Amino acid sequence: MQKNSTLGEFIIGNQKHFKYAAGELSRLINSIRLAAKVVNHEVNKAGLVDILGDAGDTNIQGEDQQKLDVYANEIFMKRLINRQIVCGIASEEEDDFVTISGSDEANSSKYVVLIDPLDGSSNIDVNVSVGTIFSIYRRVTKPGTPVQLEDFLQEGNKQVAAGYIVYGTSTMLVYTTGHGVNGFTLNPAIGTFYLSHPNMKFPEDGSIYSINEGYYSHFPQGVKDYLKYCQMEEGNRPYKARYIGSLVSDFHRNMIKGGIYIYPTSSKAPQGKLRLLYECNPMAFLAEQAGGKASDGYIRMLDIKPIELHQRVPFFCGSKNMVEVAEKFMQNHPDDATY
Ligand code: AHG
Ligand code: MN
Ligand code: MN
Repeated sequence: MQKNSTLGEFIIGNQKHFKYAAGELSRLINSIRLAAKVVNHEVNKAGLVDILGDAGDTNIQGEDQQKLDVYANEIFMKRLINRQIVCGIASEEEDDFVTISGSDEANSSKYVVLIDPLDGSSNIDVNVSVGTIFSIYRRVTKPGTPVQLEDFLQEGNKQVAAGYIVYGTSTMLVYTTGHGVNGFTLNPAIGTFYLSHPNMKFPEDGSIYSINEGYYSHFPQGVKDYLKYCQMEEGNRPYKARYIGSLVSDFHRNMIKGGIYIYPTSSKAPQGKLRLLYECNPMAFLAEQAGGKASDGYIRMLDIKPIELHQRVPFFCGSKNMVEVAEKFMQNHPDDATY
């Protein structure tokens, strides 16, 4: 598929890669594309309308929800539910998964979606990039019956597709269906996504490290040692520190420039902060498809067996050689492993 083809054309053109319910998956990715445009529109006018600030609710993790979190969640949920092309959805912003059983057609659909509707939400009111992350699995229970928790608690290596939208200086949708990673940029004048970044690849090495170093004193020893290594004067080090506080944007930059993103455990967050199902697995799938690597510091992220919907894990992700070096530092402290 050549550069400048539209996302709509690309989705159809790549349908041939799927032997299984290909049309259904295409329709699903298409509705994510449409929802992304709506959310993009809202994100871009966030500074103009009275949509800033907390919505007054907290999500299941006890964090403040911003208004746009609520809005983005509603848009993605509604679009997917109304079009009845999935049988279940789990969202970071919902306490439990949602079963879609509106019609026979929906009951027989084969895919479930997991979503972080607005990632990096603390950046909204300061005009810094935010994102959306999605992950798609084939259900494991029988089509035609209501979805079950086990349909969502699948290992990341079972994902059929995953991607993110970054609402940045320009808005991009980046996704994989297991055949590499492709990035599409939105032309806001006509509302069309064009293939702008075909076959995206993480440079094998990089010189950027992204971590919230403010929590340094709470980090496990392996992370502290690795950070000192990043700062040491040797070869292409010291590395540059870049941390936006929006996983999608930090990941996106690191994939283009080469770098490592780390959200480790800490004495304050003993399991880490990021969610395995809504954040780490989709990013890990993208990273591997782009030639990068992702783990919890000890084991491959995509091989972790989920035990609960909102499970948190430590996350090390980025350029292959950088992640491998960080893992070596972690492995000097096997007792800090969470699995
Ligand atoms: P969300 O807005 O979906 O809750 O996710 C925020 C996540 C992630 O995007 C970001 O990298 C990280 O939290 C930032 O956390 P700290 O402020 O603790 O660094
Ligand atoms: Mn998030
Ligand atoms: Mn979120």
